[in-house]
Amino acid sequence: MATVPESEPVYYDPYKVEIRTDPYPTYKRLRDEAPLYYNPEYDFYAVSRFADVEQGLRDATTYSSARGDILEIIKSNAQFPRGIFIMEDPPRHTVHRSVVSKVFTPKKMNALEPKIREFCARCLDPLVGAGHFDFVRDLGAQMPMRVIGMLLGIPDQDLTVVRERADASLRTEAGKPMVITERNFDGAGFEEYVKWRATHPSDDLMTELLNTEFTDETGTVRKLDLEEILAIVNIIAGAGNETTNRLIGWTGKVLAENPAVRREIAADRTLIPHAIEEILRFEPPGPQVARYVNHDTELYGKKIPQGTAMVFLVASANRDERRYRDADRFDIHRDTRAHAVFGFGIHTCLGAALARVEGRVALDEILNRFPEWEVDYDNAVLSSTSSVRGWDTLPTFTSPGARPARPRSDAATVAKPSEPAATAPQPIEGKWTVTIKGPTGPMATTLTLERVGDAITGTQEGQGQSSAIRDARLEGDKLVWVNEVAKPMKLRLEFSAVIAGRSMSGKVKAGFMGSYPFTGVKE
Ligand code: HEM
Repeated sequence: MATVPESEPVYYDPYKVEIRTDPYPTYKRLRDEAPLYYNPEYDFYAVSRFADVEQGLRDATTYSSARGDILEIIKSNAQFPRGIFIMEDPPRHTVHRSVVSKVFTPKKMNALEPKIREFCARCLDPLVGAGHFDFVRDLGAQMPMRVIGMLLGIPDQDLTVVRERADASLRTEAGKPMVITERNFDGAGFEEYVKWRATHPSDDLMTELLNTEFTDETGTVRKLDLEEILAIVNIIAGAGNETTNRLIGWTGKVLAENPAVRREIAADRTLIPHAIEEILRFEPPGPQVARYVNHDTELYGKKIPQGTAMVFLVASANRDERRYRDADRFDIHRDTRAHAVFGFGIHTCLGAALARVEGRVALDEILNRFPEWEVDYDNAVLSSTSSVRGWDTLPTFTSPGARPARPRSDAATVAKPSEPAATAPQPIEGKWTVTIKGPTGPMATTLTLERVGDAITGTQEGQGQSSAIRDARLEGDKLVWVNEVAKPMKLRLEFSAVIAGRSMSGKVKAGFMGSYPFTGVKE
């Protein structure tokens, strides 16, 4: 268990791996012992009870989103382009949200169901009979991106290219970037598409965003400008991806651990909507959101000073025994009471209807092909940040008992090197695009490597800065290096990769913020 001993005061650290792995015992102690918690190390307050989370998120006057909704973003003091409405307060937020909400109606989202089924079939059909299936890599990472691509009107054949380009500047869901700058939010990867769509209208969201007239906060009737459209497209592509991906991963994990429930759902598909709601309550993909405290306020008799950050522990609220009977039990038959997973108030998730339909269809289509599965825990990888929690990979055996030999997940991510390259020194010199899957989404950097004898030197550029890398070493196919970044916060990034020809993949340890996977491609 990840809590500090009961005799010591409860300690909550959103970055601590032991707590992130199983945060629920700590959440319970927070709810019982410190419903208003203060963390001096990172200087934030946190509330953990359902009533406090709901009330606080509804109070956009006291708790502002204008500096971001993730702790690290709030602390970074970065400025963001207009249109990132998840990080705006009224009146600007009201204007931007209303433009987008016209296309995100539950009716429109439910109409996407046949397409979502088709995307699921495309991902799942090739795996039938294989004996194994990865909930995240084979479906979660694929289907939501295709749905967003369709909504935005990005041609199918270009999706991968766009995703890679978006990796350079995109945010994937409410979260915090490892290095936070405006570039994470500028939607530059979509610029070409937006411009193309302006001259090639279609019936997609991008066209609607280009053409919709609205009255802005100054009373001017106008259309969105390019900066706003790019920001909006960026936030939708980001928010719509990683969270639903995590939901699909949790579906695999929770139903594997509750096989009787899974069989019950397989036999009666009308239970699927309830099951998805309960999975969302039980294991929320986004465990917390944060706010900037606009003015002094008070809770539980204690002052919360203006200028600090407040973290709303959504995942804890969802397990609050003050609201749910037997809150730690997974029960798809419990009375449906709204959970906190999509937030509250003016920023309530705009994609909730889409996430729900994606989750429902995914489960239905999985059960159609794989009624039974067991998680391959030896190879499953759980990752967690202060904003997103879920599986990076969740391989399962779909023919229990067969348990085919599979490579370990860390090795499995890397394409097999060609035979000679496996033994010969890797030709690593040159330019690499290294894309880090940070907590707020993919970020691209350019790594330039040089080799003089055994020494490896080079630079890494990204987020508007360039720095010399240090301590680079190549042992066999393993490359490690360190990049110390200074902006917007000082962070030591320790990279460790496996090289396979012109590609690499591995993990980067980002100081106190934890570890994140990355991939690299050589030009
Ligand atoms: C299970 C999946 C999802 C979860 C758990 C989730 C969670 C959330 C939460 C908690 C918020 C509120 C953030 C805050 O108060 O600061 C939010 C906002 C938002 N979400 Fe989602 N989301 C999911 C899926 C999606 C999808 C599929 C889309 C769109 C394609 C989407 C688009 C948005 C947008 C645009 C906002 C900003 C709304 C605003 O600020 O007015 N989300 N989401």
